[in-house]
Amino acid sequence: MKDIDALRRLEEWPRTHLANLPTPLIKADRLAGHLGIDALHIKMDAETGFALGGNKVRKLEFELEPNRMAGVTCLITAGGAQSNHCRVTAAFAARLGVRCILVTQGVEPAKPTGNALLHRLFGAEIVTVAERADRTPTMHRVAASIEAEGGRPMVLPIGASTGLGCLGYASAALELTQQLDALGDGSSETLLFGSTSSCGTMAGLVLGLALLGRPDVHVFGVSADAPSEELTAITLELAREGAALLGASPDLASVPLVTIDDQVGGGYGVPTVAASEATADFGRLEGVVLDPTYTAKAAAGMIDWISTHEVTRKQRVVFLHTGGHPGLLA
Ligand SMILES: Cc1ncc(COP(=O)(O)O)c(C=O)c1O
Repeated sequence: MKDIDALRRLEEWPRTHLANLPTPLIKADRLAGHLGIDALHIKMDAETGFALGGNKVRKLEFELEPNRMAGVTCLITAGGAQSNHCRVTAAFAARLGVRCILVTQGVEPAKPTGNALLHRLFGAEIVTVAERADRTPTMHRVAASIEAEGGRPMVLPIGASTGLGCLGYASAALELTQQLDALGDGSSETLLFGSTSSCGTMAGLVLGLALLGRPDVHVFGVSADAPSEELTAITLELAREGAALLGASPDLASVPLVTIDDQVGGGYGVPTVAASEATADFGRLEGVVLDPTYTAKAAAGMIDWISTHEVTRKQRVVFLHTGGHPGLLA
């Protein structure tokens, strides 16, 4: 059942509007034909616009809403050397006129490319650490030094996947269902595929769909790294945290959620043959750019699912394109 009060609170929630919304829902007929299905739609969150777009813009609009930003002098976050989340955080900091310190792991690149180049272009200061495990303690150490200097730091968790950040995707669920309902294509079920890693995107979608009372939208998260059970548990926990912020307790289990973890291959960011083929298909047939770490593996998961399951006439397939273009050019 639709929770109108919680949906109103969601729509009225303060945010720093930087995304170009709504993002288009495009019909990918040539790719659909290639995959042997009647219709495929792509929800182009690669085109949220700000700082080359992607899913992080929606999350950070909530994380960095004006009330929370009041008095903040420095944003601190962490990720890989090619982190999309770091890119968008650095760009928010630039736009909002505050300092940004990014803790990235790996060696300092001699000639930064892709997201690493953009981190620097947006004026972020980079602290490099050797291991993934060093990132969070380093962020807190950096925050303490900013405080000691009299500044006011805000530490953003990796991926901005918090209960608050996932409200960005709860709101996206509202936007997407309006677009789907306007298609008038006679479908009664939607199979929605997208990438999942720190889980805020899928958590927000599940929350939004549960608040909307939309069990007809099935959510498939394709893992970029961790095993399914772990990601499903984190997704539901984040969705519960987001619901609590809205004072709601929707039936999250009413939204069908499947986490697929057989596209990870050699690990996070390691290319796979299926992902490279998906990238080629999206490019050649639709002029759509995928990134190697997230969206190419998600597309490979969707393509594999389509080839091993029957998609009925009543079902429509939608690919959520979460962005990440700069990673292809790294
Ligand atoms: C391009 C892209 N797609 C998908 C994801 C996964 O989103 P989430 O971390 O919300 O699971 C990320 C996260 O870093 C990303 O950068």
